[in-house]
Amino acid sequence: MNILIMGTGYVGVTTGLLFAELGHQVTGLDPDREKVNTLSEGLLTFYEPGLDRILWKHVRAGSIRFTTDASAAIRDHSIIFICVGTPSREDGSADLRYMGQAATQIGQHTKEYKLVVMKSTVPVGTCEQLTHIIREAQPAPISFDVVSNPEFLREGNAWHDALHPDRIVIGALHASAAVQVRQLYDPLDSPVLVTTPRTAELMKYAANAFLATKISFINEISRLCEVIDVPVTEVSAALGMDHRIGPHFLNAGLGYGGSCFPKDIQALLHIAAGHDLTLGILEQADHVNRTQIPHLLRTWEQAIGSFHGKTIAVLGLSFKPDTDDLREAPALKLISLLAARETAIRVHDPVATLPSTLRSSQIQQFGSIEETLAQCDAVILCSEWPTYKEADWARLHSLMRDHYCFDGRNMLDGNRMAALGFHYYGVGIVQSREGRML
Ligand code: UDX
Repeated sequence: MNILIMGTGYVGVTTGLLFAELGHQVTGLDPDREKVNTLSEGLLTFYEPGLDRILWKHVRAGSIRFTTDASAAIRDHSIIFICVGTPSREDGSADLRYMGQAATQIGQHTKEYKLVVMKSTVPVGTCEQLTHIIREAQPAPISFDVVSNPEFLREGNAWHDALHPDRIVIGALHASAAVQVRQLYDPLDSPVLVTTPRTAELMKYAANAFLATKISFINEISRLCEVIDVPVTEVSAALGMDHRIGPHFLNAGLGYGGSCFPKDIQALLHIAAGHDLTLGILEQADHVNRTQIPHLLRTWEQAIGSFHGKTIAVLGLSFKPDTDDLREAPALKLISLLAARETAIRVHDPVATLPSTLRSSQIQQFGSIEETLAQCDAVILCSEWPTYKEADWARLHSLMRDHYCFDGRNMLDGNRMAALGFHYYGVGIVQSREGRML
């Protein structure tokens, strides 16, 4: 099939490449000429392990191409996936401006039947809104279907998740449209759920909200662990062995960031508020996440005495490893809070760059872990890049002035770090008087 992908960000490019890999002919449409030129050369505009190779392969094979010409692209394709961004507005609601622009363009350039598939995460009822906008923009009535087909990709694992989805959700009002979308994914061996667009839209929000809640749950338990001398890592290991709970998303840490969880929880709360409903569990999940970094800084400050005037190394800027995405990255929030304590901050990330708004004589980025930690009083680990786990911590110890290690992702072996001479503090992990981790 010939498939048009509107929006060539993270979701659009990954979805387009999946369809190219499954044997379809794909066109990526984006108004950003520079982005289109870069992608047309087979180069990714964001960091995602393995995806650069796949893009290169399909650009060379001609199975994916990119364009800025909306009218020709829409005219020439009967299957259109909308993969545009849906950022948060000030009030937490989803900003559907780009979705509206895409729908208007589809309506204006439609000459024959179109199957329009909504891939971006959008509030319940958006497919109905999309239908309305397309119809209004059509110069003459032409039939089309709108289907919801939410993505569940994790950054850093996008290609794996694209090829092996836990489920494919198809929300359609007409069976014929659902069948068409289902056929596009035919080679994949994943369960397919066919439902209404509204249900599909809520399924995506509910999945993200549940995962975020799981993280806030274990972070809240970790606060209790800190005061009653219980290691949260052992508690989550036991929780995870219960099949009803499952082992994933139970790592206590600095909290969740990224382009989805914080935004989607806000959007869900906003949707509920519009129906005079309070979603207390989600409000609390959001509250725990917002207060997790200030809480940890207070706890760690008790250990080090004061951050004031100290030199601190921050390892890992992106909201999680294997991505350069800084959206809602816990490290950035932590850096701002440290900066307010007049701390000198030296940062490192394998791929992400410190935003220019944060760069100053007080906050500097370095190219190696060794340079970053030189003469520091403490190191704070913010995302679990393997390079930090595998680092030569004995050597790093010798480069530091003082030896506090605050592990914001519980990624290092605390006992080993203590044996190397570090004052090691994790999240929900306390150090006993003998220096061993409890
Ligand atoms: C998420 C969803 O997983 C994905 O299905 C959806 O389509 C998009 O949003 P992503 O934002 O890429 O994916 O990252 P994810 O791996 O879910 O992690 C989100 C945040 O939670 C990260 O900041 C991560 O560090 C944090 N996290 C994750 C924890 O703090 N603890 C955990 O146990 C797991």
